[in-house]
Amino acid sequence: MKNHTVCYLGNNFSLQAGESVLEGLLRQGIDIPHSCRSGVCQSCLMRASNGNIPERAQRAIKETLKRQGYFLSCVCYPESDLEIVSSEELRTRAEIAELYRLSNTVLLVRLLPQTTFDYFPGQFLSLIREDGLTRSYSIASQTSEPFLELHIRKIANGEMSSWLFEQARVGDKVYIQGPAGSCFYLPGRPQQPLVLAGTGTGLAPLYAIARDALSQKHKADIWLFHGAVTQDGLYLVEELESLSRDYANFNYYPSVLEAGADADLQVGSIDQVLLATLPKPIGWRAFVCGSPDIVDILKKKLFIAGVSMKDIYADAFLPSQNNRSS
Ligand SMILES: Cc1cc2nc3c(=O)[nH]c(=O)nc-3n(C[C@H](O)[C@H](O)[C@H](O)COP(=O)(O)OP(=O)(O)OC[C@H]3O[C@@H](n4cnc5c(N)ncnc54)[C@H](O)[C@@H]3O)c2cc1C
Ligand code: FES
Repeated sequence: MKNHTVCYLGNNFSLQAGESVLEGLLRQGIDIPHSCRSGVCQSCLMRASNGNIPERAQRAIKETLKRQGYFLSCVCYPESDLEIVSSEELRTRAEIAELYRLSNTVLLVRLLPQTTFDYFPGQFLSLIREDGLTRSYSIASQTSEPFLELHIRKIANGEMSSWLFEQARVGDKVYIQGPAGSCFYLPGRPQQPLVLAGTGTGLAPLYAIARDALSQKHKADIWLFHGAVTQDGLYLVEELESLSRDYANFNYYPSVLEAGADADLQVGSIDQVLLATLPKPIGWRAFVCGSPDIVDILKKKLFIAGVSMKDIYADAFLPSQNNRSS
């Protein structure tokens, strides 16, 4: 079988058998922004100016991008030679406008994009540092707010999260790209109850979706389950309690795996707490976000309990497979 060639910005690069466009370019020293390497985060978007793009490389991207020849380079295994250009035109400049600790392990980052950035609350974007380091983060803000809000969990030795926690300053410039993902509220079925569940910073998209649904006058009950290992891991507690006082149809259920002596909290894994509270969510719509293991468990258990697969919207926070620091 012939090895195909990728022509990138006028230079030819030969791909080895079974190698994706991203792998081939990285192997030959070309630094392409990327993160998950599994077709989820969309940070590795490139555009083909000539050649056939395999269907799989465009499956997850929106129709307007498809038609312009964009594709995900990490899952693109060309069946012919390809001429490609970068997707830098999809990036927007943004400034860090606020950095604030929501808890010991979660940092709120507010960004001011320099041009219009259209999104649905709960979608995710690629955050790109000046040097090209790229990671995905869910958008916790509402479109009526002038900033984009992200909730960043501190990861030991994590490149992006450590930079944001320790070095980034208000006024620093970054790039953003996106948005992507289908985890957001669509109006049209206001009588369908909603269940939202996630652990850690999985709360970011859920907080956005819940507030969006309430502002769009969702009529049925909305249940938000947020889980953490200990009480320390819960954040935005007052804001969520205040929402549940303001809206009779909004219910907030924080839970922990290990409770302190004086904590008045539900104890148990988030799936146990959810199904003990809502044993039969038949016909409901569900949003699950955060750690990939927990997202998987929640999807399976919600399906078994009666939520149709087409009504389950999920974003698993896959860790980056970016090997810059190794
Ligand atoms: C669609 C999507 C949405 C996301 N949304 C958010 C969000 O809203 N908030 C948020 O905080 N994160 C989110 N993430 C995860 C985020 O993109 C980064 O992976 C995370 O911030 C770690 O990046 P880092 O550069 O700090 O660590 P890295 O330098 O990438 O990783 C350092 C080390 O830590 C390990 N590691 C990475 N993540 C974890 C983890 N969660 N648990 C244990 N070990 C880990 C890595 O394998 C590596 O060994 C999302 C991911 C995706 C795909
Ligand atoms: S989709 Fe390609 S690196 Fe994430």
